[in-house]
Amino acid sequence: MRTLILALLLTAVSGLSRAAAFPDFDGTGAGLSVRAVIEQAASAGGLIPEPSAASAGSPVWVSMEKSAVGALDSAVFKSAPVAQNKRIAIYEFDAATLDRLAGEMHKAFGRGPGFFAHDSLESALEDLKEPPAVPARSYTIDQADRVKALLPLAEEGNIVSVIKSLSAFKNRNYRTATGIDASRWVRDLWTRYAGGRPDITVETFKHQAFPQESVILTMRGAAEPDKIVVIGGHEDSTAGYWGGDVSAPGADDNASGVAVVSEVIRALVKGGYRPARTIKFMAYAAEEAGLRGSADIAAAFKQQGADVEAMMNLDMVNYKGSEKDIYFVSDNTSQPLNDYVGKLIDSYTGLTWGTLKCGYGCSDHASWTKNGYPSTTPFESSMEQMNPYIHKADDTLDKSGGRAEHAIKFARLGLAFAVESAK
Ligand code: BES
Ligand code: ZN
Repeated sequence: MRTLILALLLTAVSGLSRAAAFPDFDGTGAGLSVRAVIEQAASAGGLIPEPSAASAGSPVWVSMEKSAVGALDSAVFKSAPVAQNKRIAIYEFDAATLDRLAGEMHKAFGRGPGFFAHDSLESALEDLKEPPAVPARSYTIDQADRVKALLPLAEEGNIVSVIKSLSAFKNRNYRTATGIDASRWVRDLWTRYAGGRPDITVETFKHQAFPQESVILTMRGAAEPDKIVVIGGHEDSTAGYWGGDVSAPGADDNASGVAVVSEVIRALVKGGYRPARTIKFMAYAAEEAGLRGSADIAAAFKQQGADVEAMMNLDMVNYKGSEKDIYFVSDNTSQPLNDYVGKLIDSYTGLTWGTLKCGYGCSDHASWTKNGYPSTTPFESSMEQMNPYIHKADDTLDKSGGRAEHAIKFARLGLAFAVESAK
């Protein structure tokens, strides 16, 4: 219990200090003080049982920005971080505690905590090193005929249908049976969409520390197959913590992103498109548990020396909370890549765009950046006007009017991005 309270305190303060940077995430305004979080944890009676295969008591190593925990009373740090540098500290948690602490913070602050969770201390220690510089790439736009032929093939109705199917799973948690079923559902959908084309394969990526699998569809490049473009989004969902079989439809966060990735695949295949470079479409497991699915994949790609030229992350694309259509996450992403995707928007759509800052690695783009690959996250709203329903049982499609009017814009952008980047 002491570890749990420590963990909760730690993140409570991390949430509060992040709140300072984002006035709309005021910790007290969200209704829960640090003390309330601790009391809530205490009254809930300790650690939650593991919902599925992963063994209770298995350790997880978490790295966090120290600035996020700096406001903590030093007395709380009786159990010191297991390692740290000037900027980052690494703490060991029990895997079940980690879920709980993430859940409490989601409940308390609407988002957070920003952290990377690792299966091993060795992997966590990598976070203390300076991340590799992301090499500058040059991106060009000169495929207007092909892009314009493909854009009309994206259909809102298909996006709606995928969001409905994915949000119908009670939850898509990375350790529950329904979370595993949902990832198989994505694998089967993409296999159907591939239509038996010999240059397309669909595989799952198995993760050592949890049972939900990531899904990868590869469209092999005809001319330069070793050059890779990635388009992906996370398939898992969360709604607080996993004390029971809770409802987490995650229609916006992030059935919408997976639905858009799926529609890009479907439209490209329907249009008979064959890339010169390889395109890999991904549905990541366990993003809500600390970017764990994408972390495993991006690290494996780096280890194999894979040449990923650009990665587009689609996480929350169907809630139009703001005036502009699209907002690029400006931190932990590649500025040249963001600039290029902004130009794609200008060239191929009449859409407007702006930028936002998360303040920490808030989604799977950060896993690619950390491994030296350029990534971009076009997002659905400004930070101030973000979807208030995420991470709750009421993240449902009706909050977007039962439609995918906003998401379809991202599908068109994804099509332009695929064709221009994989030429
Ligand atoms: N989709 C969110 C990220 C997000 C939310 C980005 C709002 C921008 C605005 C993502 O699924 C998420 O919840 N991320 C966590 C952090 C992660 C490391 C567990 C978060 O932001 O709380
Ligand atoms: Zn989320």
